[in-house]
Amino acid sequence: MTQTAIKNDTAIPLLDLKAQYATIRDEIRPVIDEVCDAQWFIGGPEVTKCEEEVAAYSDCRHGIGVTSGTDAILCGMMALGIGPGDEVILPSFTFFATGGCVSRLGAKPVFVDNDPETYNITGKSIESAITERTKLIVPVHLFGQCADMQSILEVADRRSIPVMEDAAQSVGSIHKGQKACAMGRLGTLSFFPSKNLGAFGDGGMILTNDDALAERCRLLRNHGGHPKYYHKIVGGNFRLDALQAAVIRIKLRHLDGWSAQRAANAARYNELFAGSVVKTPTIADGNTSIYNQYVIRVPRRDALRDHLTAAKIATEIYYPVPLHMQECFADLGCKRGDLPHCEKAADEVLALPIYPELTKDQQERIAAAILSFLNAGG
Ligand SMILES: Cc1ncc(COP(=O)(O)O)c(C=O)c1O
Repeated sequence: MTQTAIKNDTAIPLLDLKAQYATIRDEIRPVIDEVCDAQWFIGGPEVTKCEEEVAAYSDCRHGIGVTSGTDAILCGMMALGIGPGDEVILPSFTFFATGGCVSRLGAKPVFVDNDPETYNITGKSIESAITERTKLIVPVHLFGQCADMQSILEVADRRSIPVMEDAAQSVGSIHKGQKACAMGRLGTLSFFPSKNLGAFGDGGMILTNDDALAERCRLLRNHGGHPKYYHKIVGGNFRLDALQAAVIRIKLRHLDGWSAQRAANAARYNELFAGSVVKTPTIADGNTSIYNQYVIRVPRRDALRDHLTAAKIATEIYYPVPLHMQECFADLGCKRGDLPHCEKAADEVLALPIYPELTKDQQERIAAAILSFLNAGG
């Protein structure tokens, strides 16, 4: 480790979008100008091309651009007819959106525990949660790697229960030769700026190989109307902006390079932490992670985080409270102890900077700060 790496005390952010923008500014500015000159802001050719390109990238026949990753989940669930009386199985250790959408449709979220190594749910974890009311299973491909879709689909297919992949954090991630979103009936993406494929605002997409479902999602995202002012079903305004679509199209060209750089950074962290008490991420056999997050597990996590904050190193806790313990889901009657793996993960996980532009010196500084704290018994 170099002396400059140790002495350097400039702040290290969790994500450096300005650094990324500097590398694509010359490509982005003209397409924004084109959208402004065309004054076609909602739908239109940019959105259609974006849908075709992201769908092709994900090995899916259809892409339906929507307002956000949350609305992709909501619209997808609406297309599948989820409503009161239905149960939807999903992980507890995840971002709120997935569970929130189930409740907003009047259905009951049924939270299951995650695999302690990958943080994802598995076929085994969903099996005992299935009842005759189960209408949908939603695995979330957390932190950049797919859930064990093979085992999940085996369980779901036996009972003809559809599976919707929440791939907000895993665009382009591969599981046993198949791309995220191409394995279930539907898949959903988020273009929130911190995602590997992030827009300049909110955005999302539903992906599917099912022609009828795609048509239903297209109707639902535009108030269920077609032709204009003739409403076949009740939908919402879930439309993707042309400006966001234009940005996504440019960023898509760089996505594999950025994800490879994140994977290289992950490999470097793994080396730096080898032989220490830091538990580095486990990528399951047959999976390729896009490392939307690099999440370690450590003892005394909160004290370590304070130490890193003092050293101007940004970190984040994804997620401090599992969904089954959230106040808004109290009426489901879940309590601490119900899902031990996700409760333990919530107490120990810490996400480190992993963005593509992160330098070797910065990573060495981060690792040194973590290891010196842990070695000192801090
Ligand atoms: C796993 C997961 N699902 C859904 C979402 C919701 O996406 P959005 O923020 O675009 O609504 C996110 C984004 O943070 C996410 O990480």
